[in-house]
Amino acid sequence: MSTYLVTGGAGFIGSHLCDALIASGDTVRVLDDLSTGLRSNLPPAATLIQGDVADPAAVAAAIAGVDGCFHLAAIASVEKGVTDWLGTHHANLTGTITLFDAIRRQDRPIPVVYASSAAVYGDAAHVPIAETDPCRPLSAYGADKYGCELHARVASHVHRIPTVGLRFFNVYGPRQDPKSPYSGVISIFCQRIAAAGSLKIFGDGQQTRDFIYVADVVRALLAAMALRPADAPVFNVCTGTATSVEALARLIADLTGHSLDVETAPPRAAEIRHSVGAPNLANSILGLPQRVKLRTGLADVLAWINGSAA
Ligand SMILES: NC(=O)c1ccc[n+]([C@@H]2O[C@H](COP(=O)([O-])OP(=O)(O)OC[C@H]3O[C@@H](n4cnc5c(N)ncnc54)[C@H](O)[C@@H]3O)[C@@H](O)[C@H]2O)c1
Repeated sequence: MSTYLVTGGAGFIGSHLCDALIASGDTVRVLDDLSTGLRSNLPPAATLIQGDVADPAAVAAAIAGVDGCFHLAAIASVEKGVTDWLGTHHANLTGTITLFDAIRRQDRPIPVVYASSAAVYGDAAHVPIAETDPCRPLSAYGADKYGCELHARVASHVHRIPTVGLRFFNVYGPRQDPKSPYSGVISIFCQRIAAAGSLKIFGDGQQTRDFIYVADVVRALLAAMALRPADAPVFNVCTGTATSVEALARLIADLTGHSLDVETAPPRAAEIRHSVGAPNLANSILGLPQRVKLRTGLADVLAWINGSAA
């Protein structure tokens, strides 16, 4: 059994990871500033340190004595990166370097698995996108996530810290806050359709995304922690399946039995048209060829929304 630090553990993905670690008998410490995360997301057995991942003293205290770190703390919003460029940079890139710097000051370099994003690719020339395709981020968020990957290489090559970066595509599942303006399309659509409300689709609805269920993401995080590589690899965490925004709305309506009430809005500026990843590297090296089907995952989200509303 091991002790892990999960930064951002009170958030959507982090809290599911904490559940899985505790279920397998590990000890979990969480560093989270609760800016978007909730204390109530955490399993009771997790210890919360409320603090900023870009604060060197808070990070040094949080990593003392742990066997590994999952680094998920970030301002996970492309839109917020537009309005608060410097603030998101501080949390997203300075926070990551602060963590690596605290680890290299310890006697023992502990492994770090960190959240990157499909946003590192920008508008790719073709899909599915492989890890070897060029990274041309279009947003501050994507640029900072790419910066995290570059600094992870430094952490690995200069400071001998084993790192693995996971480029998450569109993650969805219970606990993704549908009320947040920065939330994923699935939580917003599920909440609107379940409440028999109208939906807003930007553009023609034919933009496609690669939706991956949070339990598959947790499996990828755990498998990545077991790797302890020397060459700072990065992996797409995706399904390889394209789903259009319109098809997604129809599928949710079908699952709820409600009819679709769609309002169309002009396409959003600089929105990426197609984002679908090639999962081959994760399938072979992390050993995760199976994925939860979209229909099954959506049913879980709808059950969670109905349960929260009850
Ligand atoms: N959800 C997705 O589809 C998706 C896709 C790609 C990448 N990611 C990445 O995965 C990670 C987790 O995302 P999520 O969807 O769970 O988001 P989330 O907002 O639910 O979780 C992020 C957590 O980090 C915490 N946090 C933010 N700034 C912090 C700071 N300065 N110090 C300490 N804690 C801080 C928040 O309070 C929150 O609990 C993030 O790094 C995000 O960029 C998510």
